[in-house]
Amino acid sequence: MISLKEALTSPIGKKVINALSAIGAVIFVVGHAGGNLTLLGGEGAFNAYAEKLHALGILLPIAEVGLVAVFLLHIISALAVTKDNNAARSQDYEANRETKGGPSQWSFASTKMIVSGLILLAFLIVHLIQFRFIEYWSADYGAEYYHDLYAIVYQAFQSEAWTVGYMAVMVFLGFHLRHGVWSMFQSLGIMNSGWKKTFTGLALIVALLVSVTFLILPPYMYFLAPAPA
Ligand code: HEM
Repeated sequence: MISLKEALTSPIGKKVINALSAIGAVIFVVGHAGGNLTLLGGEGAFNAYAEKLHALGILLPIAEVGLVAVFLLHIISALAVTKDNNAARSQDYEANRETKGGPSQWSFASTKMIVSGLILLAFLIVHLIQFRFIEYWSADYGAEYYHDLYAIVYQAFQSEAWTVGYMAVMVFLGFHLRHGVWSMFQSLGIMNSGWKKTFTGLALIVALLVSVTFLILPPYMYFLAPAPA
């Protein structure tokens, strides 16, 4: 019987942590995309949604700490899995072995995941400063900034640079989710050959739904949304 420590530090253990933390992150982005759709309902609808979230009181910071833990686990385990995979791949090269699907194809997918993951991490830092920690740095907004969250989002997307920048990041989010959700099923061992097509389709649907929902919001705010009162 292997110990918990061995299970968590083994290559397969790290993949499972990466997949489980991915489930948490996916649940968050699906909920966040859905909640943000209230932007389409205008100032009243979006601020009411923000106020409901903040009315959770102590539950909100608890959920936020959980979210930070999920994202950190996901990033650390992703880096560890990539390192293990690179080490295994260089052994395959030395032993002149071919990996499934060919080494270049595998390495392309994993490079894409690391690159899109790092872009999303950089985005997340900027995003939180811009929309979540605004109470700490803006003279215009204090601890009750969420009463004016619509105005904050509206102002951000009056800039062409923010609008186009957000849209570009959402394309990377789509790629990251498509391959990520697919390999999550793989790591959890539920992708057997009979279900491969179903899970591949499901990964594509989740990726498209989330990224397209986020993607339409910046141009909507730029071109169509009513200015805050
Ligand atoms: C068009 C795209 C997006 C818009 C308009 C948007 C908008 C917002 C807003 C207004 C907040 C502040 C919420 C509050 O204080 O209650 C927020 C928080 C946050 N957003 Fe986004 N977001 C977008 C995309 C994303 C994406 C793609 C991610 C993740 C990859 C993300 C992750 C987060 C996180 C982690 C928080 C903090 C949640 C909290 O502390 O409660 N957002 N977002």
